[in-house]
Amino acid sequence: MITILRIGHRPGRDKRITTHVGLVARAFNADRLLVDTKDIKLEDTLNSVITRFGDGFEVKSGISWRKTLKNWTGNIVHLTMYGEHIDKIFKNIPINSDQLIVVGSEKVPREVYERAHFNIAIGHQPHSEVAALAIFLDRFFGGSELNKDFNGKLNIQDCTQGKIVLEK
Ligand SMILES: C[S@@+](CC[C@H](N)C(=O)[O-])C[C@H]1O[C@@H](n2cnc3c(N)ncnc32)[C@H](O)[C@@H]1O
Repeated sequence: MITILRIGHRPGRDKRITTHVGLVARAFNADRLLVDTKDIKLEDTLNSVITRFGDGFEVKSGISWRKTLKNWTGNIVHLTMYGEHIDKIFKNIPINSDQLIVVGSEKVPREVYERAHFNIAIGHQPHSEVAALAIFLDRFFGGSELNKDFNGKLNIQDCTQGKIVLEK
């Protein structure tokens, strides 16, 4: 079970990027997105993708990041450019445990760095929570997540030009 925890979400400013965190989480085989600030619109947008493209993913906003971290019994990974390089540390992650993957927006509270079992840098340059999450999940699943069958109402097929979309 892989849960993504997005902290510091500001509904006005981060609407698009948090939606993309959710889209990447779902498309790259995570099970759930938790967002600290209540945002019904964000939930509706992601639920509409889930309805059309396939189930098996849950989104919940307005949760306490502090309580989530405190009560989590599995492994906690915090993605941050200040952490240890993924190439060095990845082998130490207990991959059979439930995972909580934390991504921030602006300043991440110190408590998160301290509570995480692993603070992991996807390289030490500043980039984005969307990119960091995609690369982490791709390493975690070794690329197999890209061939997941989502069993959706809409099913996109390989195509050299144009679009082929099958509808159930
Ligand atoms: C706008 S960035 C803020 C950069 C931040 N100062 C940091 O700690 O990485 C927002 C989020 O993107 C993720 N992020 C950005 N660059 C990263 C990197 N090189 N490695 C891992 N995560 C990164 C982190 O989760 C961060 O909280």
